[in-house]
Amino acid sequence: MADLGFDGKVAIVTGAGGGLGRSHALELARRGARVVINDLGGSVDGSGHADGPAATVVREINDLGGEAVANADSVASPEGGAAIVANALDAFGRIDIVVNNAGILRDKSFHNLTPDLVDPVIDVHLKGAFNVLQAAWPLMREQNYGRVINTSSNSGLLGNFGQANYGAAKMGLVGLTRVLAIEGAKHGIKANAIAPIAFTRMTADLMPGLEEKLKPELITPVVVFLAHEDCPVNGEIYSAGGGVVSRFFVGLTQGYVNPELTVEDVRDNFDKIRDETDYVVPSNNGAELKKIFKQLS
Ligand code: NAI
Repeated sequence: MADLGFDGKVAIVTGAGGGLGRSHALELARRGARVVINDLGGSVDGSGHADGPAATVVREINDLGGEAVANADSVASPEGGAAIVANALDAFGRIDIVVNNAGILRDKSFHNLTPDLVDPVIDVHLKGAFNVLQAAWPLMREQNYGRVINTSSNSGLLGNFGQANYGAAKMGLVGLTRVLAIEGAKHGIKANAIAPIAFTRMTADLMPGLEEKLKPELITPVVVFLAHEDCPVNGEIYSAGGGVVSRFFVGLTQGYVNPELTVEDVRDNFDKIRDETDYVVPSNNGAELKKIFKQLS
């Protein structure tokens, strides 16, 4: 089969001045996409601002013979999101792919969280994706084509100590992805999410010695495949790390059925309610409702 190319396609990659975003942007550009390299250029906790990181990645892409422009707006405000999309239109005239990757950390256990630790994390990860997509979405609808990749995390999907702010934002992105997949389907737009595990400046302290095994470059093939025209899925979540790729999904147990349900019934049948035998993976609300009515009939 031929290699997957991106000639004629335009991508926005947020937070692409380093780590995972840089790797995604380089590979998209290598394969022919023109790329907006957005990065605020701050520290891991989101403080500070610098044009350098985005500009450096643009130079790297130009050195490979690719096309890219640098953008240092913040994804954290609607104005920033609109400016990033406007930059893509000015430079390249269209937008086919949005990779929402920008991120920060402000870890603290829940009882110590204060608004200055919560709001910026939600603003960058969750609202950041809203801010960029709300500007890009009408263009994608109009051209009947789009690919969205949101960066979630196992800290949301599975939970992680000290990351209530981050985990909530990352799980919010799963909800956003699922709804966009449904709303975009009839307009040729597909939205999927990844939950990566990679050694970057964000995780360096948590993963000593794993720099070689957990390279950001081993996440990028999943993102690039999901960004391609041939992407076969919509509304799904993929775990990736160290070259292992898997699908995360939301499953529903067969459960316990009793149209006269009481509190004691729930207590007495809790094992059955939790039993994972023959669990199902409903594709949408309707599928869950259909299961309920089938079990009641
Ligand atoms: P990173 O810190 O190298 O990359 C994040 C980038 O986002 C930075 O370059 C930063 O300047 C940029 N950024 C931050 N706030 C921004 C804003 N308001 N506007 C524009 N850019 C902004 O870290 P890494 O690991 O590459 O993270 C990329 C994404 O992957 C993040 O969303 C992170 O939460 C997510 N992730 C990473 C994991 C890992 O194992 N490295 C695990 C799970 C999720």
